[in-house]
Amino acid sequence: MCLATVALCQSLNAANADTDKEMNKFVDKLMSKMTLQEKIGQLNLPPGEDIVTGDPQSSNLGALVAAGKAGGTFNIKGAEKIKALQKLAVEKTRLGIPLLFGMDVIHGYETVFPIPIGLAATWDMEAIERAARISAKEASAAGICWTYSPMVDIARDPRWGRMAEGAGEDPYLGAAVSRAFVKGYQGKNLENNDEIMACVKHYALYGAAEGGRDYNTADMSRQYMYNYYFPPYKAAVEAGVGSIMSSFNTVDGVPATANKWLLTDVLRNQWGFDGFVVTDYDAINEMQKHGVAKPDKASVLALNAGTDMDMASHAFIDNLEKALNEGKISMEQIDNAVRRILMAKYRLGLFKNPYKYIDPQREKTEIYTESNRNEARKIAAESFVLLKNEGNVLPLKKEGKIALVGPMGNSSSNMPGTWSVAAVPSKYKTLLQGLKDAVGDKAEVTYTKGSNFYDDPVQDLAAASWNKALRDDRGEEALIAEALEAAKDADVIVAAMGEGSQSSGESASRGDLSLPDTQKKLLEAMLSTGKPVVMINFSGRATVMDWESKHVPAILNVWFGGSETGDAVADVIFGDVNPSGKLTVTLPRHNGQIPIHYNHLPTGRPASPGWNGFQVFRSNYVDMDPAPLYPFGYGLSYTNFKYSDFRISSTKMSPDGHITATVTVTNTGDRAGDEIVQFYINDPEASMSRPVKELKHFERISLKPGESRDVSFDITTDALKFYNYNLEHVAEPGEFRVMAGPDSERLSTLSFILKE
Ligand code: NOJ
Repeated sequence: MCLATVALCQSLNAANADTDKEMNKFVDKLMSKMTLQEKIGQLNLPPGEDIVTGDPQSSNLGALVAAGKAGGTFNIKGAEKIKALQKLAVEKTRLGIPLLFGMDVIHGYETVFPIPIGLAATWDMEAIERAARISAKEASAAGICWTYSPMVDIARDPRWGRMAEGAGEDPYLGAAVSRAFVKGYQGKNLENNDEIMACVKHYALYGAAEGGRDYNTADMSRQYMYNYYFPPYKAAVEAGVGSIMSSFNTVDGVPATANKWLLTDVLRNQWGFDGFVVTDYDAINEMQKHGVAKPDKASVLALNAGTDMDMASHAFIDNLEKALNEGKISMEQIDNAVRRILMAKYRLGLFKNPYKYIDPQREKTEIYTESNRNEARKIAAESFVLLKNEGNVLPLKKEGKIALVGPMGNSSSNMPGTWSVAAVPSKYKTLLQGLKDAVGDKAEVTYTKGSNFYDDPVQDLAAASWNKALRDDRGEEALIAEALEAAKDADVIVAAMGEGSQSSGESASRGDLSLPDTQKKLLEAMLSTGKPVVMINFSGRATVMDWESKHVPAILNVWFGGSETGDAVADVIFGDVNPSGKLTVTLPRHNGQIPIHYNHLPTGRPASPGWNGFQVFRSNYVDMDPAPLYPFGYGLSYTNFKYSDFRISSTKMSPDGHITATVTVTNTGDRAGDEIVQFYINDPEASMSRPVKELKHFERISLKPGESRDVSFDITTDALKFYNYNLEHVAEPGEFRVMAGPDSERLSTLSFILKE
């Protein structure tokens, strides 16, 4: 570091210390004036009443706020409404402490970006940071200062509908995504009125819910936690996240919200987290159903464990005073929780100006702007993963007749995807409109629905936001016949199908991840015409597409691309944008392979690669190929990339040194394109069994036709370390393997030795 930089850091540190000093002085003084009831009031987070994200309850919000019984509230849309509540808090309560206004701004506000699993599929951390920055700008323009994002739960089981909200199965990528989100939301230091506080969630292990069933138990070894599930939460803490949400599930039998080891020993003592912990919705009350404690005792357990704020249980308000009088909790514990919440308000600048984030003028001009939408369109196109493109069916020409079919073809409400609580679907284009706008008068685009999401009306309604208007009740055969008629003289068929937007997300676990029968029948009918068929698969998780991968020539996985999906899909299928997304979850061939993930431990009896049938006394299945359909990291482009000359700067590395692995990547096709170059590490002989490979570095590069680039991975012991049986973070001397390639399977491998 140069001397000028050292001086700058010193002065910044000094400035931070000064700000902390001032903050502590301010908070001390305020707390010295607060009554016990006012303090407990700060720990209460009742829900807003218009956007419902849990068991609906009438919290009588205005009365609670005016009585000083709320530290904040959440999921209220609109600056005027927020302003009225803030006014109540500031003008009607004795000390005028401002409220926090939270919201589930998970992948955008009115400008909606792809669902997080789609954002992760860009492998573009700058894009994710920009998406979060824009989300913060829009949300803050409407009075929101706190978002319940990023969700960073590692998910290896796609039956779990909340896989949609996270970055997928990999801890290294998950940690990078986590940092990008936090940076994007919080900006430099929360000083500006468009920088909002992030809340990383759901701590911890929510993604490991047994059977992929939502809200279910998580139980695993500490080694698994530290090596595979904790890194993204820890990364958020290191990036300075202001708050963390405890999860609904139990962890080793103890509800996360009452788990002192998680909330205090690991989070605060090991990771140094100095923000505040908020529960998930009603989680303190739910401890009764977990069979652990009724709300009075559950409140004590939660506070003792390190919970600071109670979301929607109303349990702290009802029980903490009594618990204090009975000596079950201490004043110091209450003070600690209050202090952390007041510190957050101070850092957000709410004491200086409680209306800092509430500006009806900004709300009118800064939301869903053209430039925000352009960014969302670009990022959506980057998130799509081309799974198959036999005979280069894609990109399509803007000519002739294009028959669009399928339940996702003409539904703007299904575009944004799960957790778009501030979305305004009436403003968004349908896919049909996107395609029509792209071709103008050069080609004809027709639309027939061809099928509902499900033939069964109840399943169908649940998949499509309970919007009855979206269902066509004419019956399977009539719908297919109509689609066949429309496809008869088409040049190409585009089938927009998969999940409805409510088939993933919270409370949307699925047991069968294949395409619903009624959609499959439509696809078969379309293929029977002999015309080229492009399948656009909408999904909030890894879906099962074994049959489709064998029969449909082109498959583009588009997740849920957000408000600009219609245009973004058109950009990619007509080749204005070359697809570059890659999977961050393994796509299974069969439901029976689930849970599945690429970074598994080796068994003592691995099956030989390449499945030619059942292998006796080997780790495989009697009745199905155990290999994934499409591996982690996989995704095609309209051009081709060649990997060559994989090399390493030395085959020996000292513990404090580094070596460099380099691969040359060449664009051998005739279009410019982006490639995501991946590097993996394997530790073949360690004190514990280590994964067959683990992602440790990646780079997104752009190459013109014929262009080559060397991409390097600078290996230090950081990439070789793991938490051993005693939970020490160690790099063990001996052999390591480094691999490079376009996905987690097509890899070249080299070995090196880490010296003692
Ligand atoms: C429950 C969800 O689990 C959580 O992710 C969300 O932030 C809260 N509800 C608030 O809506």
